Amino acid sequence: MLIHWKPEKESHIPIFRQIVSHFEEGIKGFEYRTYSRLPSQRELSKLFDVNRSTIALAMDELKALGLIVTNGKGGTRVAELPDGVRSFNWSDYVEGSMYYPNREIIQTINNLDFDDHIIKLSSGAAMPESFKIAKLDQLIKEAAQTTLTLDYTEPKGLLSLRAVLSEHLSSIGIKAKPEEILVVNGALQAIQLIALGLLQTGSTAFIEKPSYLYSLNILKSFRMNKKGIACDVHGIKPSALYKAISRNHHSMLYTIPNYQNPTGRVMPIDRRKKILEVCEELNIPILEDDVYRELWIDEPPPPPLKSMERGGQVLYIGSVSKHLSPGLRIGWIVGPESVMNRLSDIKMQVDYGASTLSQIVTELWFKSDYRETALNEIRSKLKNRRNAAIAALDKYMADLGTWKKPKGGFYIWIDLNKQISEAQLFQKAIDAGVLIYPGHVYGTDEGSAIRISYSSESEERIEEGIRILSNIIRNL
Ligand SMILES: Cc1ncc(COP(=O)(O)O)c(C=O)c1O
Repeated sequence: MLIHWKPEKESHIPIFRQIVSHFEEGIKGFEYRTYSRLPSQRELSKLFDVNRSTIALAMDELKALGLIVTNGKGGTRVAELPDGVRSFNWSDYVEGSMYYPNREIIQTINNLDFDDHIIKLSSGAAMPESFKIAKLDQLIKEAAQTTLTLDYTEPKGLLSLRAVLSEHLSSIGIKAKPEEILVVNGALQAIQLIALGLLQTGSTAFIEKPSYLYSLNILKSFRMNKKGIACDVHGIKPSALYKAISRNHHSMLYTIPNYQNPTGRVMPIDRRKKILEVCEELNIPILEDDVYRELWIDEPPPPPLKSMERGGQVLYIGSVSKHLSPGLRIGWIVGPESVMNRLSDIKMQVDYGASTLSQIVTELWFKSDYRETALNEIRSKLKNRRNAAIAALDKYMADLGTWKKPKGGFYIWIDLNKQISEAQLFQKAIDAGVLIYPGHVYGTDEGSAIRISYSSESEERIEEGIRILSNIIRNL
């Protein structure tokens, strides 16, 4: 029996449970054939680099499940399974397809995000209270009364929504006709459509280091590359960008200028102008991801790069996920009409458009007369949480790391003073009931760092989470 698998030591799933699941899937899925002999417990313990007692526990469980049998001489074989227990072996298909799975750590976070007991210093979603503050229930009721049929919408999304988005965009300095706007299923789909529709195999996306894009496998799945560009407190260093960009026509700069994920940093206006100049000179397009724009706390952020461009070189992404509701799955891309035509054609092939109901709700939100008041209430709540997080960091972690107070958004990036195992910290934090993102998820390769978020928890729980975290770091 050939075994090309090892348990994931850093997973929160106990090792013995991983071993049981592995053999259960393998046996039920024909990978391990009936009567085939399992390696001895000693060999398995060596192969998996775990204690004999862990193997013995797993074998007992597999025996109890009727999946293996032992003979008198101590040999262990795959049992003959009754009809109906065997299932088709999908593993070649699942593992061989072109789309990469999320890294295990991201899958773990995605699952634990729904565990009510854990303190989520991880969330990238709108504050849970936003739903109520924005009177989303009323908007949904109104939307249900507005629409007679829930038909598909125009290829670029509901025209009436694009018309209000056009008005909204002009308030932040972006002139865009409805034909230059494409409604998408959240900003994530915007990134995916742009990669699919405008880049090629081998294309390179230049990105901030660290960046949200490092946590996604979209580009890798399409056989495209990511190249991290050095940053300072103002964001991407223009000189580093200049140096890194080859005159490759199928490159693109991806940037998050406001309350960057994961550093929380804002790119000042001068830096925005310089970055635009570099990209204009070297003729590469910019993808400006501005999903956090509404979440300013101290002062509104500088105007978007899109509002300062000259030749339509910037594609601009917005979303309601961070200030209203991620579950609506509504975002938008703004760019030249020919580009939007191309992307909307792909979107039609992928899903025939975003949810019509969500689009109507979003339109009503943008038209509501209380939108600005609601946003101010959201900002003020966010400010309390940000302040609570900073106060707790000052109280518990001053000797453990450094950070900057973000001027908006959700995230605080903490550079730890000592080099520790981020994987160990992640796991120990989960064991102690706190969920965080380790820095390496965002592409850091030097030092140790973590990203914490203050969007989803009360001030008390934020403090408690940071206190627990500080104890773990101190003892690592
Ligand atoms: C920078 C950035 N872009 C896009 C997204 C995805 O947003 P959406 O929910 O609109 O797809 C996120 C979510 O964390 C993000 O941080």
